[in-house]
Amino acid sequence: MSIVVQHAGKEIGVPPSRVLSDISLEIQDGEFVALTGRSGSGKSTLLYLLSSLDTPSEGKIEISGKDLQKLNSDDLHLFRNRHMGFVFQFHYLIAELTALENVLMPTVKLHQKEKRRPAAESLLEQFGLKEKMARLPRQLSGGEQQRVAIARALVMEPQYLFADEPTGSLDSVNGDIVMKIFIDVNLKNKTTVVLVTHEPDFARLARRQILLKDGRIQQP
Ligand SMILES: Nc1ncnc2c1ncn2[C@@H]1O[C@H](COP(=O)(O)OP(=O)(O)O)[C@@H](O)[C@H]1O
Ligand SMILES: [Mg+2]
Repeated sequence: MSIVVQHAGKEIGVPPSRVLSDISLEIQDGEFVALTGRSGSGKSTLLYLLSSLDTPSEGKIEISGKDLQKLNSDDLHLFRNRHMGFVFQFHYLIAELTALENVLMPTVKLHQKEKRRPAAESLLEQFGLKEKMARLPRQLSGGEQQRVAIARALVMEPQYLFADEPTGSLDSVNGDIVMKIFIDVNLKNKTTVVLVTHEPDFARLARRQILLKDGRIQQP
């Protein structure tokens, strides 16, 4: 199983401006890939296409053998919920819910909240938050909040983990902790990790780097 992109491109805006051109790549299950490049090079846009949060203007994207453009939006939501985890620069935790309840959010729609509770607790424990599960987001540090968001992304044991500058608002100690979590998840669970980062030190930790420049893949 894999993510396969064939000649995908993206135009955005009115009048349209070209953001991605002729992107072809293949990411095998279990890979750890970094999407790198300067600000504005198209990293986030490509991640959104890979993860079905956005659709290409042309070309084709398949995940696990499915052509995502052929799925209706219910099936797409279900597929995403079940098989994909997302982490962004900002955590988007729900302010009124405890850390544990936030982690359990993706399980609610799938009616797996009670089934997944032990997994949610175990993730928070692994991430050093055992004593803080009942806290609200504002009672946690920035690094802790991001770890809660990562636990939320992992609670369904997704095959794919997509992260857009997840260390972008963290200090270097917490950035290193987050990277270590991604590396562990990739090794232990064979989760495919696609990480957007403009930081070369983090990109180097991936087994493969894809460098974007002006919306095109630069061959190394
Ligand atoms: N919604 C949008 N409307 C117009 N231009 C956009 C939009 N989103 C992204 N762009 C442009 O597309 C290019 C790539 O953006 P992005 O994928 O966010 O780059 P990166 O994540 O590498 O910083 C940039 O030039 C950006 O200004
Ligand atoms: Mg970006």
